[in-house]
Amino acid sequence: MHGYFSEEKSVDTVNARMGRNIEPRIAEVMASLVKHLHAFARDVSLTQAEWELAIDFLTRTGQLCHDERQEFILLSDTLGFSMLVDAINNRRPAGATENTVFGPFHVAGAPIRQMGDTISLDGKGESCLFVGRVVDLDGRPVEGARIDVWSDNADGYYDVQQPDIQPKWNNRGIFITGPDGSYRFIGIKPVSYPIPDDGPVGQMLASLGRHPYRPAHTHYLVTAEGYQKLVTHTFVGDDAYLGSDTVFGVKSSLVAPFEKAGDGETIWRSHFDFVLARLDQTR
Ligand code: BEZ
Ligand code: FE
Repeated sequence: MHGYFSEEKSVDTVNARMGRNIEPRIAEVMASLVKHLHAFARDVSLTQAEWELAIDFLTRTGQLCHDERQEFILLSDTLGFSMLVDAINNRRPAGATENTVFGPFHVAGAPIRQMGDTISLDGKGESCLFVGRVVDLDGRPVEGARIDVWSDNADGYYDVQQPDIQPKWNNRGIFITGPDGSYRFIGIKPVSYPIPDDGPVGQMLASLGRHPYRPAHTHYLVTAEGYQKLVTHTFVGDDAYLGSDTVFGVKSSLVAPFEKAGDGETIWRSHFDFVLARLDQTR
């Protein structure tokens, strides 16, 4: 019995209020959350005005959320929290392609396309042939892997951000590998772009002296039966924002080559192999 609240015993007092027969994981997570939250307020001697500012910030963050805008996930992304949770949950053996942040612009149900097809439907940007293989950790091809790809257009916007300007499914498609695990499609060399910065998260970044840009990247969701789901990007190596991605998504293993194709079909060629870990291959 801890009785009334006191500054010194605040954590114990709050956590002792939990019921006895609650779900153990809820008890564990909430007790730790209360502990760290109280430690944070103590650490910075949080003022009443700062507490009010935080409440207003979180209120406006929530008010901006709707089906097409998730300001809370953006907040998590820009605080590096999304990448931390992703890292904790995707510990893979060396050699497996690494995960990175999913982002808000994936749309389920993209058209399944044939190998060699073009995903860039607006005719903008510098064309690029994307090629490679989906393999396992022993280098064996993965047949039937589903490669769901999406990227911004040459103006730095996803189709869903410009539904009246871009064709539906612009720079999106799903490719399914055959027995040799290879893939091949034509898209564009992506460009860097700012994350939506007209809300509270943009204000937070500005107040921290941070820019809102992501380095140029192409998104992939690669799935195959018996293998861990891979959520990743490939990055363009010479991008000015590679070292300061506003959502901390860059990993050196994901920087892909973009070379002049020199064959007249496309301007660029980018080769990248996706290495999938089996469900039981963790570290
Ligand atoms: C993206 O790459 O699409 C993205 C990721 C995190 C926040 C905003 C955008
Ligand atoms: Fe993106």
